[in-house]
Amino acid sequence: MRRAFLAVLLAALATAPKAPKGPNSKPGCQPSCGGVDIPYPFGIGEGCFREGFEITCKNSAPILGINIRVLNLSVTPRPEAKVILPVAYQCYNIKGEVLHKDQGNVNFNTAVDAYRISNTRNELFVLGCNTFTMTNSGRKGRHQFRYYTGCVAYASDSMDLEGVEDGTCAGVGCCHVDIPPDLTDNTMRFANDENGNWLHSNQAFCPCDYAFIVEKGHYTFRTADLRMDGGETSMPQVLDWAIRGRRGDSSPSCTEAATMPDYVCVSNHSKCVNSTNGPGYFCNCTQGYEGNPYLPNGCTNIDECARPEQFPCHGVCHDTEGSYECKCRPGYHSFRDPKEVFCSPTFPRQARIAIGVGLGVFFLVVVLLLGLIMHQRKKLAENFEMNGGNILKRVTGLTIFTEKDLKKITNNNSKCLGNGFFGKVYKGTLPDISETVVAVKSFIKVDEERIEEFTEEVMIQLKMNHPNVLKLMGCCLQLDVPMLVYEFAANGSLRDTLHRNKRQNLSTELRLDIAIGSAKGLSYMHSQDIRHGDVKPDNILLSDKLIPKISDFGLSKLLKLGEKIAQKVVGCEGYMDPVFRNTGLLTRKSDVYSFGVVLLELISRKQMVYGQSGSLVIEFRHIYETEHSGRSMFDEEIVAEENIIILEEIGKLAMQCLKERQDGRPEMAEVAEQLVKLRKNTVDWKEYIERVLPTRRQQ
Ligand SMILES: *[C@@H]1O[C@H](CO)[C@@H](O)[C@H](O)[C@H]1NC(C)=O
Ligand SMILES: *[C@@H]1O[C@H](CO)[C@@H](O)[C@H](O)[C@H]1NC(C)=O
Ligand SMILES: *[C@@H]1O[C@H](CO)[C@@H](O)[C@H](O)[C@H]1NC(C)=O
Ligand SMILES: *[C@@H]1O[C@H](CO)[C@@H](O)[C@H](O)[C@H]1NC(C)=O
Repeated sequence: MRRAFLAVLLAALATAPKAPKGPNSKPGCQPSCGGVDIPYPFGIGEGCFREGFEITCKNSAPILGINIRVLNLSVTPRPEAKVILPVAYQCYNIKGEVLHKDQGNVNFNTAVDAYRISNTRNELFVLGCNTFTMTNSGRKGRHQFRYYTGCVAYASDSMDLEGVEDGTCAGVGCCHVDIPPDLTDNTMRFANDENGNWLHSNQAFCPCDYAFIVEKGHYTFRTADLRMDGGETSMPQVLDWAIRGRRGDSSPSCTEAATMPDYVCVSNHSKCVNSTNGPGYFCNCTQGYEGNPYLPNGCTNIDECARPEQFPCHGVCHDTEGSYECKCRPGYHSFRDPKEVFCSPTFPRQARIAIGVGLGVFFLVVVLLLGLIMHQRKKLAENFEMNGGNILKRVTGLTIFTEKDLKKITNNNSKCLGNGFFGKVYKGTLPDISETVVAVKSFIKVDEERIEEFTEEVMIQLKMNHPNVLKLMGCCLQLDVPMLVYEFAANGSLRDTLHRNKRQNLSTELRLDIAIGSAKGLSYMHSQDIRHGDVKPDNILLSDKLIPKISDFGLSKLLKLGEKIAQKVVGCEGYMDPVFRNTGLLTRKSDVYSFGVVLLELISRKQMVYGQSGSLVIEFRHIYETEHSGRSMFDEEIVAEENIIILEEIGKLAMQCLKERQDGRPEMAEVAEQLVKLRKNTVDWKEYIERVLPTRRQQ
């Protein structure tokens, strides 16, 4: 038994782990003895221990009390002292008389009642063949002792024992029981045979009884142990210890101790714990700290991250005072605490949120867009209807462009040509093969009252098919205001050509051709029973080949409905037939009058607002009447001898057009005819001059 015990002892010493960091003994005191750490309140030597916790170091072995060998002393997590205590025994001769015995009594509680036999860590064994053994522990019990516990071990002969397997301690030759707490003594009492019980005679196969308290799991019963003759044996046992009063004094609980001067839980991060085995208290380090709570600064922070098995962390570990943080790496996430559950990439959840939000936004946008599109469609349809689309869509030969087409044609209104009557005029290109260039004009706002007029107007314009009338190519009715698409006149208006580009040379022939074209256009219109109402150089456009195109006709009819606009637009006083001004009745002769002014401008290249009177017409008429010729008013650029006759003829024609009385004025067709004649004469005249003049000069 002793050999076995020593082997265990040596093994235990060999595997003793390193002491926790921080001071364990009082400063200046022997920290260990025989490989056993001596933590305060234990200590070796004066001033190194608390009363009741003195250890002596004899022959390199720590000794508690007088002769109790100490194997281990621990402070935390539980206050324990592992010691070697004697085995109680009683041996008999063949008659059953006691030969020698030992009750195992040792005094580990001296001045202070510090120790209790740990009831959780030890158990009681009794070995024998007709034996009842009890512990005798504690004071002031009902019968002398406070606590009794024990068991019966029996075997009638050696045969009984032979049937017992090693390791089985179940009543035959061996019994074992748990012990109660608060045991203060190791003393055993073997029941004697006073009353004829527990006889030990004729028991050579089982000469001794043994009883001992031993650390749980340490001892295994073997029947051979029964045949060993009694002698000194011992067993390791775990003692609980606590801070208690001196023998006879009461022991303080934590509540009481905290106020006492000799309170021992002095370390920062230490706390008091009530003893569970006997009265008193002991100290512990608080959560996250370890070390010796009985010493100042004895409790030190645990670096949990360095002990992953004890303090698991499945993420990134970071030690803090008294605790540790465990977080998942950025982009990772644990469903619960990463101390418990592995981190997984955060993607799923974030993605879920992102997708959720994304979808929400997406649907919102879709709904908004749909709403917007519906609204726009509705608006387009409404505009279409309002602008007479239902009537116009049945008109053959009229191209109706959608708002989208129009955007494409004008390349999103990127090229503005200028201002028309009611808004901007944009240049555009039709998506046809020849890429026809067009001008897109906004028209007057059409309301219910005007629908009829407007559609009529569009149809009239569409019907106009003459090289000198600006051609309507199509329209778009989906906008607030209808947009009309016309052929493009590359050279702008006659007004621009005459007055703005002063440097451009305009020959008499060209001027005549322009006059002829314009007259023909107007004459054609009159033949279709259309009156222009606003003839002026601004409304005579010139194509790339300088062919005049009458534009903006027929507006007056519409304009009359919108009074304000009418006044503004038809306010071009100088061109207006005074008869029309007086009567408000637009006739073909009104156009003739206005054309007369255009003719004057053509030959004089002077603006309609001219001279002292502020009117080219008045000035010209004055000179014409006094000098019987407008010669002094003619444009110097063309006042060459060979032109004079032609110019005078044109002036004369203009004067006829400008007659006060309408019936004095020629019809547009006549004007055109006259001009054509003059044009023909110019050719003849030129030929004549070319033939005659050189010979004249030679003479
Ligand atoms: C001493 O006790 C401590 C705490 O209970 C334990 O960790 C250590 O292993 C023991 N040492 C020996 C030699 O029993
Ligand atoms: C103990 O803790 C207190 C309060 O937390 C602090 O003021 C004191 O400095 C600490 N003592 C030592 C020795 O660290
Ligand atoms: C300790 O015991 C006392 C008395 O039994 C009790 O009042 C106190 O709350 C206990 N203290 C602790 C920390 O358990
Ligand atoms: C001492 O404290 C530690 C850590 O807080 C704890 O695990 C242990 O159970 C405590 N010991 C006692 C006896 O309360």
